Amino acid sequence: MKIVKLLFLSFLFIIGGSSCQNKTTDNTKPSAQTSNPYDAQIRKLMSKMTLEEKIGQLNMLSGDWSVTGPTIRSNFAKEIKEGHVGAMLNCFTVSYTRKLMEIAVDSTRLGIPLLFGYDVIHGQRTIFPIPLGESCSWDLNLIKHAARIAAIEASAEGIQWTFAPMVDIARDPRWGRVMEGAGEDPWYGSLVAKARVRGFQGNSLSLSNDSTILACVKHGVAYGAPIAGRDYNTVDMSKRTLLGTYLPPYHAAVEAGVATAMTAFNDLNGIPCTANGWIWNNLFRKQWGFNGFVVSDYTAINELVPHGVAKNLYDADVLAFNAGVDMDMMGEGYVNNLKKAVETGQVSMKEIDSSVYGILKAKFELGLFDNPYKYCSEEREKNDLLTPQHLAFARKDARESMVLLKNKNHLLPLSKNIHSIAVIGPLGNDKYDMIGAWSAAGHRHKNQVTLLEGIKNKLGNRVRIMFAKGTEINTKSTKGFADAVKIAKNADVVLLALGESSKMSGEASSRAHLDVPGNQNALADAILKANKNTVVVLMNGRPLTIQHLDTVAPAILETWFAGTEAGNAIADVIFGDYNPSGKLTMTFPRNVGQIPIFYSHLNTGRPFNPNKHYTSKYIDSPNSPLYPFGYGLSYTTFKYEQLQLNKKEITKQDTLKVSVVLKNTGKYDGTEIAQLYIRDLVGSVSRPVKELRGFQRVFLKKGASKRLTFTLTNHDLSFYRKDMTFGSEPGLFDVFVGGSSKTDYKTMFILKP
Ligand code: NOJ
Repeated sequence: MKIVKLLFLSFLFIIGGSSCQNKTTDNTKPSAQTSNPYDAQIRKLMSKMTLEEKIGQLNMLSGDWSVTGPTIRSNFAKEIKEGHVGAMLNCFTVSYTRKLMEIAVDSTRLGIPLLFGYDVIHGQRTIFPIPLGESCSWDLNLIKHAARIAAIEASAEGIQWTFAPMVDIARDPRWGRVMEGAGEDPWYGSLVAKARVRGFQGNSLSLSNDSTILACVKHGVAYGAPIAGRDYNTVDMSKRTLLGTYLPPYHAAVEAGVATAMTAFNDLNGIPCTANGWIWNNLFRKQWGFNGFVVSDYTAINELVPHGVAKNLYDADVLAFNAGVDMDMMGEGYVNNLKKAVETGQVSMKEIDSSVYGILKAKFELGLFDNPYKYCSEEREKNDLLTPQHLAFARKDARESMVLLKNKNHLLPLSKNIHSIAVIGPLGNDKYDMIGAWSAAGHRHKNQVTLLEGIKNKLGNRVRIMFAKGTEINTKSTKGFADAVKIAKNADVVLLALGESSKMSGEASSRAHLDVPGNQNALADAILKANKNTVVVLMNGRPLTIQHLDTVAPAILETWFAGTEAGNAIADVIFGDYNPSGKLTMTFPRNVGQIPIFYSHLNTGRPFNPNKHYTSKYIDSPNSPLYPFGYGLSYTTFKYEQLQLNKKEITKQDTLKVSVVLKNTGKYDGTEIAQLYIRDLVGSVSRPVKELRGFQRVFLKKGASKRLTFTLTNHDLSFYRKDMTFGSEPGLFDVFVGGSSKTDYKTMFILKP
């Protein structure tokens, strides 16, 4: 109890009882929300439950389907039968989930259905591009629809809950989990968070629809900012950065009605997020009105012991539970310790009831009490997976996610009238790696279309297609170089597929070096020497330091890990059936020394000046990134002109209309992601040199032009001010428009007092 108090007090000290928009410092759990149609049923059921049965609902076990295969390990069966399990993860397929569900429904005293959760991060069987890649589409409808399809496929295999979206803002590409989010920007990240929640949960569909699943916003909070990019490491962050940069996407997910939330492994300013009552009870529940339940990350409660805030698992359970963590994922601590904690008064019965209430409410909302087997439909499992529609959508999604980084002398698009083409590289014909980490039930050895297959599908027998691996992803051996060079010499053009293995990103996959691994750069040098018409096709889970490739290769296409239809989608882009339109949502550094690197930095008191030594810079590297946020080329060119405002001076009540003419000045039809940024020139605290506040995805035929109008409201100009209140401040603002965060095309306006 002493520890609880101490932590509570020290956190108040750090967070300063701040909480900005809403000055509450009460970190106790609010009572369960009762305004839902199932209230009477939930209460009736709870009145019959013993304390053990209630605590059982707070326990989640892993079925580890991938390890054990679809047989039930006897201890699960026993635990479920005894009423000790409320939810399971890593269980899917209709037959397997049905078997487990039958035990819960038929063999427990009250027959309460189980909840099956799984990491459906970028698709279930049909795999879409990794979320970071998909976010580069800037297409919110597409992002929402991909989540919808993922939910349709997951629910057809017995799953009712996905551990997604991950909304952690990520500005350090060493961190392997940047692949799971939407990049570095909180404003854009918030829109993507909403789109993904709505996709999984069905937007206008009710959760009781059999294709909607619970979403889970994760990881609360600031998991994306571990020191030095090392996964699980400490997060040490100012209150202003936390509130202004890292929290908005979680808040957006809550506003979109996310049903559940997951704690983060990291500590935040010394307090592990899984033991932080301010985050869960105060911020999420009281300030934001979050009405769902909170699950710990995998054994994150147990990890409070090595974190050094609990001396044993019992204390860890008391800490986490009182901090508002309702469900224990795989820790098996709640199920063993909470009864005693209630008996000794360290945990209140009221709070146990409130947690159980939340979990039962989710089960009622899903309709599991009406029909526990509604997600166990053989027919749906047969018809709803990897459908032609899903695959066609995956191809579109992959195309839109790709970012053309370089295209010297218009090497791309390639003509289909070539005579020969060489596909070279460790990722050129690789099914296993190309779907990336966290690919749910995506089968790693079939279904995926590799680059080589995609090129064959596109060109058929008309063209001579050669393949050589050249090297492995991460090796020093140059054994394969000679064969690769030979086919490069004999080809009109080369596609060189380089990148990371899927295991190099994702959880516990931080990297200290961000070069293309192994000897892939050396392979690129050898191939480029043999054939100048070489297009580098990158497959990777994070921004890499590709300065070398940028210097030597004429064309580079960033394809991320593009999912099941990757090869077909890449072929569409390479041969001009789709004009690339993706723009980066995460800055590409030149070198690891520049990290963390992001476009919306502060100016400093000594911004870089090449003529002055004592300015903010590196003596051995430019400050500027290799490719900035918002950057991406097209086969055509766009021009922005006639930037106009409807008013030069506005009040806080006004909305400002910013308009600009966008012209397609090149030789192809194409889509541009037009971006709008603001800068508040003088504030009570320093403001970033640019902040994204608008974008539009615009398709224009070659030669066509269109006037685009953006709207800015007072909320767009607001921030956490010197006194930590949220609002705008009068004064001068720059407003920029253009095709990336580098744009300097701007005008100004005044916000009047
Ligand atoms: C640990 C990861 O951090 C989390 O994102 C995931 O949902 C759980 N494991 C369950 O697999």
